Amino acid sequence: MKFFIDTANLDQIREAQALGVLDGVTTNPSLMAKEGITGHDNILKHYMDICAIVDGDVSAEVVSTDFDGMVKEGEALAELHEQIVVKVPMIKEGVKALKYFSDKGIRTNCTLVFSPGQALLAAKAGATYVSPFLGRLDDISTDGLNLISEIRLIYDNYAYETQILAASIRHTMHVIDCAKLGADVMTGPLSAIDGLLKHPLTDLGLEKFLADYNKGNS
Ligand code: E4P
Repeated sequence: MKFFIDTANLDQIREAQALGVLDGVTTNPSLMAKEGITGHDNILKHYMDICAIVDGDVSAEVVSTDFDGMVKEGEALAELHEQIVVKVPMIKEGVKALKYFSDKGIRTNCTLVFSPGQALLAAKAGATYVSPFLGRLDDISTDGLNLISEIRLIYDNYAYETQILAASIRHTMHVIDCAKLGADVMTGPLSAIDGLLKHPLTDLGLEKFLADYNKGNS
């Protein structure tokens, strides 16, 4: 399972990278705005800064909603750095753009996916990644994890190569559940990754080992 961090915060990206288990970064316009990154040139520079920190894929989202605009933006983003994956929304023009990018060998992440039908379309259009937003489904009392398992079943039925990128992960149990269901990638906050580390018996056990060592070696 690949681990992506879902933030545009450079310090958090550095911290996740330093742990040695990071495979990439996802951003979106809201996450960029949260870090105060505005203006075309600043946004592109920020993507470059992220690419300089991580070894893996960095999703950069288009903000156009028409085919021509998405193609223009996406091609410019893809040219910016080889690690950039063009993030395209699941709308009709977006499906056309996914197919266009796929035919040109430009890697894509189809975002804002909330149903198995949308995921099927993304795979048919040749998306590299599909991003079902499980946390946002949970927010409206719908089972987000069920969507991950439905997409897994459909993709396995036809051996689609599109990778399931479980997005809108909110906490550590989401990560574990997505791993059980066979999501290829998860993207979440640093806290969800850090949470995987924690177990009180680990802390107690280490405390005892060190105390016993110190009895005989101090
Ligand atoms: C990532 O690609 C998505 O944009 C992100 O996971 C959305 O998360 P949110 O629902 O917490 O905003």
